[in-house]
Order: sequence, then structure tokens, then C-alpha cells
Amino acid sequence: MTVTLKPFRIGDIEVRLPVVLAALAGYSDLPYRLLCRRMGAPFATTEMMLDRYVLLAGKYRKIMAATTDEDHPVVGQIIGNEPDVMASAAVELCRMGFDAVDLNFACPVNKALRRRRGGFLMSQPRLALDITRAVLSAVDRPVVLKLRRNFRRADDDTDFWQIAEGALDAGAAALTVHARSVEQKYAGPADWQFLADVKRRFGDRTILGSGDVHDARSALEMLERTGVDAATAARGALGNPWLFRQVIELAAGQEPRAPTLAEQREVMRAHFDAAVEFYGPLKGPKVMRGFGIRYARLHPTPKKIRVAFVEVKRPDDWQRVLEEFYSPQ
Ligand SMILES: Cc1cc2nc3c(=O)[nH]c(=O)nc-3n(C[C@H](O)[C@H](O)[C@H](O)COP(=O)(O)O)c2cc1C
Repeated sequence: MTVTLKPFRIGDIEVRLPVVLAALAGYSDLPYRLLCRRMGAPFATTEMMLDRYVLLAGKYRKIMAATTDEDHPVVGQIIGNEPDVMASAAVELCRMGFDAVDLNFACPVNKALRRRRGGFLMSQPRLALDITRAVLSAVDRPVVLKLRRNFRRADDDTDFWQIAEGALDAGAAALTVHARSVEQKYAGPADWQFLADVKRRFGDRTILGSGDVHDARSALEMLERTGVDAATAARGALGNPWLFRQVIELAAGQEPRAPTLAEQREVMRAHFDAAVEFYGPLKGPKVMRGFGIRYARLHPTPKKIRVAFVEVKRPDDWQRVLEEFYSPQ
């Protein structure tokens, strides 16, 4: 497979690799974004942040909206349903150094839907566009929308086109389209034909595709088959930061290199240390438990490793799993 990897733009930001780290609640935090960047991912989005909490100078914002000099370009994602609060949160993120703002109209979690946020907005085009316009007039950085195809699977796509077209006309810099309905959550295949339709309809506007990027190969297939400007790696990049390096290898016609156990151990050790430094010795191991379960799938005996990671409570436990299961012998 030889594919020309074309850079793409989000407003004035040029991104050199068209495969990027998706917004991932609980995972696309500062330590994991930095790790993926070291593996070749040039661009990343934070996990979704509640607009109201971004406005409070508390612990939530300190962790969720943390960024550093190496963490660029970086997009801050917000979720909410009041245009003025979303606009104020967007302004705050720009003040904190985010290069662009992403509006989450896609989250399918019941709590978000009950509170009329996230994916709920896919059924409310007028409100979605009021939010978009309020944010666009409040900030001078690029604004991206994260959309799903529709709210219910059986719905036609009228609301999608209304939001997408209205947002791009109003000045949104890009759309990230998750080609599943909100109702589908994460089940069933994503409809890549829909991604191709969106890209065809909006021609030279920037469209990022989301859904079923399992690995480097499917990332390149999405680019080829749909014509989107970039593929966003979500579940495929969880516990597999090597995906970005593999995209570059595969596009150059090489067989992508699977990380050896020794390589996995070193990366997981560094990731753990970074997480403990970032979250502290109590929360760090808890956060890393989730990652451990994801890293386990690259191990020859994933089930056993998953069980071992689930039991991690203290930093020593993590080191023990690495020594026991990832040592050269
Ligand atoms: C654990 C998890 C957390 C997610 N968190 C977010 C989020 O905070 N913001 C967002 O826009 N999408 C979020 N998503 C959706 C992904 O960005 C992506 O659109 C979706 O997983 C489809 O891609 P995939 O089939 O390749 O996983 C999340 C997905 C997962 C699995």
C-alpha cells in the first residue's frame, strides 16, 4: 500500500499528517497526547470538557484543560447547550493557549442526552447553529464541530445537512463527522459512504472522518475510500500509540512494525510515570488502569494481562505487571 499522505488545514493551522488523535473522554489527556505526538501524531483534541467547568478556575479545569509547549497544535473540546456559556468557555480555552475549539454535538452517553447536551444537539439544528454562531463571534481561532450522522438511525439526514451547511457558511473551519447515529452509540459499522458524501458535498472545506479506524491500515483506507482530509483515530489508538508511526510506515509501502514487548514495556513505563506526575500517586494509577486494559490487547496473552492491570492500585503494582509479563524472558 503506497499512499501519499497530504497535510491538511484547520483554518490557519497546517497539520502535516492526516491521521490524528480523536477526542477521547478519559484518554486524550495531556500525558497521552504527548505520548502520541512522540509517535508521530501531529495534532490532537482534548477530551470533552463541560463548558461551565471551563469557566471555573478549579481542579477540573487545571487537569482537563492542561496543555504545554510541546502539545501543539491542540484543540480544546467543549460540551454544553447554552450559546453564551459555550462562547465564554471557548474564549477561556483560547486564553489558556488552545489553538482551536471543538464543539461536541456528538456524545451519545445517556447523562449528556438527558441534560440536552452532546448528541442531543443533532436533533436540534437551530440550537446547534445558535451555539456555533455564538462561539464563532466570540473567538478568533478556528472552530470545529464534532457531529454524528443523525440522532436516530431511522431519521433521514436533514438535520445533519442543516447543521453542517449552516456551520460552514457561518465560518466553522472544519467538521469531524462520526458516521454513526447518536442512537447507535459505538455499535455497528460506521457508514463510510456517508463520509464520502459529506466530503463530496463540501468540496474544499476540511472534513475529518470518524468511525472504525481500528489500525494504521483502516486509517489509510478511510482516506482513500472517502476522500476526507483526515482520519481520526479513536478506539484504534487506545493503548496503541504506535498506530501513528505505523501509518507513516504503511503509507511508505513498508510493513508496519508491531512494537516488541520490550518497546511496549518502555512506553508503558514512561506513560505511567507521566500520568503519576500529572495526576498524583492516587489518581495516576487509577487512570492508568484504563490504559493498561487497552495496552493489553497488543500482548500475546491479552486476557491474563487485562486481569493483572485491573488490579493495579499503587505505582508498585504497575511495575510488577510490567516485570512479570513484559520482561525479555
Ligand atoms: C472511550 C471513548 C471516549 C470518547 N470520548 C469522546 C469525547 O470526549 N469527545 C468526542 O468528540 N468523541 C469522543 N468519543 C468518540 C470518538 O472520538 C470517535 O468519534 C468514536 O469512537 C468513533 O470512532 P471509532 O469507531 O474509530 O472508535 C469517545 C469514544 C470512546 C470509545
